[in-house]
Amino acid sequence: MFDLKSYLNKKREIIDTKLSSYIEGDKLLKNAMHYSLMAGGKRLRPILCFAGAEVVGGDAKDCLEFASALEMIHTYSLIHDDLPEMDNDKLRRGKATCHIAFDHGTALLAGDGLLTLAFEVMSDSPNINEKNAVKYLKISSLISKAAGFNGMIEGQILDVESEGKILSLDELEKIHVLKTGEMICASVLSGAIMGEATNKELEDLKVYAQKIGLAFQVRDDILNVVGNPELMGKAVGTDAALNKATYPAIMGLEESKKFAGDLICDALTAIESFDDKAAPLRAIANYILDRKR
Ligand code: IPE
Ligand code: IPE
Ligand code: MG
Ligand code: MG
Repeated sequence: MFDLKSYLNKKREIIDTKLSSYIEGDKLLKNAMHYSLMAGGKRLRPILCFAGAEVVGGDAKDCLEFASALEMIHTYSLIHDDLPEMDNDKLRRGKATCHIAFDHGTALLAGDGLLTLAFEVMSDSPNINEKNAVKYLKISSLISKAAGFNGMIEGQILDVESEGKILSLDELEKIHVLKTGEMICASVLSGAIMGEATNKELEDLKVYAQKIGLAFQVRDDILNVVGNPELMGKAVGTDAALNKATYPAIMGLEESKKFAGDLICDALTAIESFDDKAAPLRAIANYILDRKR
C-alpha cells in the first residue's frame, strides 16, 4: 500500500531544505521573505512537480529548482493576496500575515523579492547545459504563463472584481481555474516535461492537473465555510464576509462537495492507463478531496 503521509513528509523535507538555502542574511527584506516562505506551507506545488516527474520515470532531484520556483511564486501570491487591498487577512500558515508581522511596504517588497527570485532560480540551475537548455526554457515559459497576467494574476483580479457580484458557474469556474488551477497544472506538467513525458502522457497529465487544480480551490472554498482555523492556520468565514464568489455561495455546500468529488473522479480516470508510478498522484487527488488544511 502506498503511504501518502510518509511520501509527503519526505518530499516536504527535501523542498524545505532547498528553499531555506536560497535566502540567507538577516536584513529586513530577507527576513520578511524567509518568514513567509518558511512559515509552514503544505508544499503541494513542489510535491506535484516531483510526482509529475516520477510518474513518467523521471527523477524528482532534477526538478528541485523548478519546484522551488513554484513555491516562491505561490508564497508571493499569498503575501499579496492577504494585503488589506485584497483579502485583508491577518493569519496565514498559522502565523501573522507578512504585512502584520512586518509592515505593508515590506510585505509588498517581500512578494516582489520572492517572485523575482523564482525567475533567477529557474534560469540559474547548475544542471542547465547545451543539450537540455530548450527543455529548461520550455518549463520556464510554462510557469511564467501560469503565474502571469493571463493566468494566476488574471484570476486574482477577477476574484477581487467579483466581490459582491452574482456570477454564473462558468464565470466562477474561470476565476478558480485561473487563480489556482493554472499554477497547479504548471506544477504537474513542469515535472512531467523534466521527466521527458511523451505527448500522450502530457495530455493525460494535463487533464488530471486541471481537474485537481479546480477541485483544490473548491475545497478551499468549502474549508472557508466549515474548516477548523487552527488546523488550517488561516481564518474561516472570510469569503462570506467579503461577499466573495465561491462554490458554496453559488451552489451550496453539499453540491460543492459533490462537484469536488466528481472532479477528483475525472482526474483519476485521466491517469487510469498509468502504472504504479502514478500512486503518488492518485493518492494526492484523493487527499485533495478531504484535506482539512
Ligand atoms: C492556499 O494554497 C491558496 C490557494 C490557492 C487555495 P495552499 O492551501 O496550498 O496553501 P499553503 O501553501 O499550504 O499555505
Ligand atoms: C488564493 O485564493 C489564490 C492565490 C493566492 C493566487 P484565496 O484568496 O481564495 O485563498 P486563501 O483562502 O486566501 O488561502
Ligand atoms: Mg484571494
Ligand atoms: Mg485569500
